[in-house]
Amino acid sequence: MSDYLPLNPFVMGFDLKTGLSEDTQSTKRSLSKMSGMYHDDEAYKKILEKEDPLVYEFYELKIPNYASDLLFGTSITYPGKVGNEYYMTKGHFHEVLETAEVYYTLSGEGFMLLETPEGEWKAEPLSAGKALYVPPRWAHRSINSGSTPLVTFFTFRGDAGHDYGTIEQKGYRKLIVEGSDGKPEIIDNPKWSE
Ligand code: NI
Repeated sequence: MSDYLPLNPFVMGFDLKTGLSEDTQSTKRSLSKMSGMYHDDEAYKKILEKEDPLVYEFYELKIPNYASDLLFGTSITYPGKVGNEYYMTKGHFHEVLETAEVYYTLSGEGFMLLETPEGEWKAEPLSAGKALYVPPRWAHRSINSGSTPLVTFFTFRGDAGHDYGTIEQKGYRKLIVEGSDGKPEIIDNPKWSE
């Protein structure tokens, strides 16, 4: 890698409670950017007629995209629902499928919904002080089933890249909604297509 320009060491801040950084700008995803991703289209439309709430934000640091680098930052998924479906991130595979990621929850509670291209799936709980290992090949989506922001710190290989398109087109096989007892419930995604 002759064009590799190593970064100098640096330090930056992420608030333990809010996940926000004063040192750089976050990428923000409001509800209007998640068309078709929630199962209740009526509820989705109804919210957007009145407002376009911020669903999540995360940091994409300007670190070189080499396998020898590590990308890192926080992801903040806000509390809320579309119909009975909790606010969530779009979720993604890595473009380089054989790359892993670690998520450490700083604040809040919820789930990481994971699935492989072969159709295995898992819903792992996220809570403050717990680390989650996302192995290579597993798509991952954060879901906030609590009443405060779900804040995670993540790190993954610099060249991994993001494949959002597969999830945008096919959806996840499973969804996490609030059940009639007020507790999180995993259901089949009625919109999922092979
Ligand atoms: Ni990732």
